[in-house]
Amino acid sequence: MLDRLNAIREQAVSAIAASADITALERIETDFLGRKGVLTSLLRTLGSLPAEQRPQFGSAVNALKQELADGIEKRRQELKELIGAVKIAGLDITLPGRSLPLGRLHPITQVLNEVCDIFRRMGFGVAEGPEVELDFYNFEALNIPANHPARDMQDTFYVDDKVLLRTHTSPIQVRTMERLQPPLRIIAPGKVYRCDSDVTHTPMFHQVEGLMVDTDISFAYLKGTLTHFIQHFFDAKTSVRFRPSFFPFTEPSAEVDIQCVICRGKGCRVCSNTGWLEVLGAGMVHPAVFRSIGYDSERYTGFAFGLGIERFTMLRYGIDDIRLFYENDLRFLRQF
Ligand code: PHE
Repeated sequence: MLDRLNAIREQAVSAIAASADITALERIETDFLGRKGVLTSLLRTLGSLPAEQRPQFGSAVNALKQELADGIEKRRQELKELIGAVKIAGLDITLPGRSLPLGRLHPITQVLNEVCDIFRRMGFGVAEGPEVELDFYNFEALNIPANHPARDMQDTFYVDDKVLLRTHTSPIQVRTMERLQPPLRIIAPGKVYRCDSDVTHTPMFHQVEGLMVDTDISFAYLKGTLTHFIQHFFDAKTSVRFRPSFFPFTEPSAEVDIQCVICRGKGCRVCSNTGWLEVLGAGMVHPAVFRSIGYDSERYTGFAFGLGIERFTMLRYGIDDIRLFYENDLRFLRQF
């Protein structure tokens, strides 16, 4: 029995000496002296010893308990002094390490990627085009001749007579059709520019254009594709509504509304009490657009649509001021 006690003493003493911080020391304290510790369990076996051995064994265990408690207390003081000395030397080894700041994707980029992914899964390829664009691609080829009143729909930044900052992603439709023959199915994400600035407009914003051309593409394809997209992006129960509208490059044209995602259609400030939110412009590609790039407008039909990423992002996250996206305030950006 006394051999057993000596073994425990040796083990405990070397563990105490090796402990490098207070936490480690406290663990040793619990292991040896705690209520479920080695020495307490040993005392519980006292009853199984012959009566004449009990007093001697009991006092040996108690003496060891005291000895270890003293040793632990001594080590505790040593460790405290050690940490204090290092602190005075200008180093606090108990401080946690510095974490490196981690960047993340801007909410607009996240939503842009998500929108592209949904269409990619429907078989759409991704096309791009220049932000500094020719009048021809931005207007002329889209059935908006010079002096046409429809040019007023978009306040344009002109570089010179023939060059401008694209006002929408629709010129990518034209550039893609120039390059490829039907059937085609593409989306075109990118930055667009309009001379406009308030709570819901910034001079630069992001659009995603969509275009599908083949023989026998009907308005039903447009409805099906956009409804599928919206119900994936928001949720499967979101109602979608198509309203007649006008764009020079589509006929017929539609504006697409979704049931207000904030009030679920009951009417609130965001939807101006109508229960609906306009989120998209769309329509069947105008035959004049096909003719301007040399497609046979008798043979092919197609649909096109354009959506604003800022608007989708604001609705997804309940953001009410578009300017927050471009102020680079980290307190805002870190929430995404
Ligand atoms: N280009 C239009 C706009 O920015 C949106 C649109 C795209 C409408 C394609 C119809 C078809 O307002």
